[in-house]
Amino acid sequence: MSNVSDPNRIVIFDTTMRDGEQSPGASMNLEEKLRIAQVLEEMGVDVIEAGFPVASPGDFEAVREIAKTVKRSVVCGLCRAAPGDIELAAQAIKPAERGRIHTFISTSPLHMKHKLQMEPDAVYQAVIDSVRMARRFTDDVEWSCEDGSRSEHDFLCRCVEAAIDAGAGTINIPDTVGYAIPEEFAALIQMLRDRVPNIDKAVLSVHCHNDLGLAVANSLAAVQAGARQVECTINGLGERAGNAAMEEIVMAIKTRHDLMPYSTGIESEFITRASRLVSAVTGFVVQPNKAIVGENAFAHESGIHQDGMLKHAGTYEIMTPESVGLNRSKLVLGKHSGSHAFRQKVKDLGYDLGDNAMKDAFRRFKDVADVKKEIFDEDIIALVDDEVLRVNDRVKLMSLEIECGTRKSHATLQLSVDGEERGCEGSGDGPVDAAFGCIKRLIPTDARLQLYQVHAVTGGTDAQAEVTVRLAEHGRTVNGRGADTDTLVASVKAYVNALNKLLVKREKIAPSAMSA
Ligand code: KIV
Ligand code: ZN
Repeated sequence: MSNVSDPNRIVIFDTTMRDGEQSPGASMNLEEKLRIAQVLEEMGVDVIEAGFPVASPGDFEAVREIAKTVKRSVVCGLCRAAPGDIELAAQAIKPAERGRIHTFISTSPLHMKHKLQMEPDAVYQAVIDSVRMARRFTDDVEWSCEDGSRSEHDFLCRCVEAAIDAGAGTINIPDTVGYAIPEEFAALIQMLRDRVPNIDKAVLSVHCHNDLGLAVANSLAAVQAGARQVECTINGLGERAGNAAMEEIVMAIKTRHDLMPYSTGIESEFITRASRLVSAVTGFVVQPNKAIVGENAFAHESGIHQDGMLKHAGTYEIMTPESVGLNRSKLVLGKHSGSHAFRQKVKDLGYDLGDNAMKDAFRRFKDVADVKKEIFDEDIIALVDDEVLRVNDRVKLMSLEIECGTRKSHATLQLSVDGEERGCEGSGDGPVDAAFGCIKRLIPTDARLQLYQVHAVTGGTDAQAEVTVRLAEHGRTVNGRGADTDTLVASVKAYVNALNKLLVKREKIAPSAMSA
């Protein structure tokens, strides 16, 4: 967190892996979280909220592993105002160069009465006890008043003052249910600054949800009223309608510096990469017209706009695509490109692959180049991601033959399971049903298919298909991905990838149930 002494520097607190992961279906495994954390650190995120350690052993492990690897960003673990929670969060962030404990409790009358079933005085005491306890483990403690925007002002002021006195260096005011509107939320921040006597001893933070589509507007209004930390997520991922989108906050501050003279530590050129990674990992597609990272955010379709753009880009573009790391699709490599050019390209795209993974990725590239004339950046990203995904897979696709048409479809499938080949054939209602049916017969599970999604990586009928499959088994959800120039091969790869993740989850929960 360099230069945070600048009074106009806004601390960017990313909660993609905590609040973001709370979106139903947006599960991420450890390896994926480590990849996201690496990009967040590279892009200059000040604080990474890596998880909620008490929520599950997987969350605990993820926070701990991220704490071990991230060096520049502060690594934060969330906990309720309960001794067991705080202790676990403290253990999880212990390896961090700079670790933060973020403890919270509800302060609104509605939450205190119905959710906590606690009297305000008991909540007040819990604020003091939880912050004091957290401070025994680290100097960097953040306190949040859940449902802060619907809390009574007098009580909120008392709690904030007590939290600061107990040692909280950051006070976060959430609009938990996305109910506030900008003027009202700015006034709340101003009220706290005016009425809490020790408020200058803490950084004021905001955490806005998007239920009314106002999360970014509320966050920026709060900044203008004096908040100096914004909690946000990549692509606006988060509970229900999501959280404030980091890319929108960062680019609004950058683009409207004339009216908002603030700065962040974010290198905005990383935005597209982070957005694509989070979307690929979670299977949450970014809507095409989404600000900053949607596919159409920099597209100019109408003749009048195109004409204006050709004369002067400023006519219809308030920021450049390059400023968010979107380089206009370039034809990059072809069938005759060698391994040096490929290696360089992969590096330019931000990947750091070991020798073996690089060799495998190059082999895949040659296969794709054989069937696809033009290879774009997006193709390389899809095939490298696909390669990285499969490194530790126990189940692998060996071959797939499909007959399909207007009558029943028939699949013949060969898988390798822990090195042993297993084959199966069967019919189904369409080729995907036939192929997935074969996998289920070879590897029986209780998993239910929750999502099957196909996305073309580039234009053209020879485009690679990127398929996402979401499986749910006994309350656990996993997302699998696969990419190939053949949509059915990509589909089977995605299903198999999801199965592999389920097997890892089973292994962690019950090592005896490991047979695939
Ligand atoms: O929305 C919320 O109130 C939260 C808190 C735990 C910070 O996510
Ligand atoms: Zn939240």
